[in-house]
Amino acid sequence: PAPSFRVSHFADVAHLLRRAKNVVALVGAGVSVSCGIPDFRSAHGLYHSVAERFGLSDPQQIFCIDHFEDDPSMFFEFASQIMPQPHVRPSPTHRFLAELQSRRRLLRLYSQNIDGLEKRAGVSEQRTVLCHGSFLTATCTSRACKRRVKGTSIAPQVAAGLVPRCIKCQKNSDDDSGGVLKPDIVFFGEKLPNRVADCLETDIEKADLLLVFGTSLQVAPVSKIPAMFYGHVPSVLVNRELVAGHFDVELLGDCDDVVAALRAELGWHDRSAARYVD
Ligand code: OAD
Repeated sequence: PAPSFRVSHFADVAHLLRRAKNVVALVGAGVSVSCGIPDFRSAHGLYHSVAERFGLSDPQQIFCIDHFEDDPSMFFEFASQIMPQPHVRPSPTHRFLAELQSRRRLLRLYSQNIDGLEKRAGVSEQRTVLCHGSFLTATCTSRACKRRVKGTSIAPQVAAGLVPRCIKCQKNSDDDSGGVLKPDIVFFGEKLPNRVADCLETDIEKADLLLVFGTSLQVAPVSKIPAMFYGHVPSVLVNRELVAGHFDVELLGDCDDVVAALRAELGWHDRSAARYVD
């Protein structure tokens, strides 16, 4: 449907934000690039280094569930590079999302990232939907077991590039092998957490603004989320490059710079905003 509003200027986005009470934000790897975490598909992104290191013509294979089930060692040789690191600090964009929450304007943050930085910035778990899962837990891939463990229990092996095995299976097996413990991040070929569809169902009704930051929108089904909101609420893309899909406004540039300019336009200089609670 044709949108019933027009947003054509940068200042209009600030105006929308000032009035918004239920912002839905959708973010991808671009929001963590300034934290030193490479994105996936840019020229020097993770897929470029994966292709070179493992000689893969399609580096996305590293996240394919069939490939993992055949041979998990390649994923675990690489996994230490994408594990959340305790010393990494959230970006100004992460902090802006937390500020939206503290100013009571954030309805939900849909994140494709597994770095945990939105949480570290202060966005509550209740407000966050981790569309591609997280390293917080891991599950035994043995069909007979499916035991879930805390991510911290496999962190030393993952950091060392080793394949973590399930202790429970090991005890029950004859050959002492045990099922592979797979971090609960969503691989290609796996379903997204139910929470994604559950939250979308209610958020589509409630939202009054969609902000999309730092994603190439090349991975379904998350790539379909903006279209669900388009025409119902104004939608804004903040990204280094144009991506497929319709947005009412496209603000091209580094997301931290755009956020800084938007905050200046809004007059949000008050750092004490953090005193508001969700
Ligand atoms: P991509 O690497 O595909 O896209 C990142 C986007 O952010 C690109 O369009 C960049 O131009 C843009 N970008 C980079 N730095 C930026 C910055 N500082 N400011 C603004 N924009 C910037 O990453 P995602 O879209 O997040 O899934 O990738 C989606 C999924 O593909 C990931 O969650 C991962 C991957 O396969 C799984 O592993 C399941």
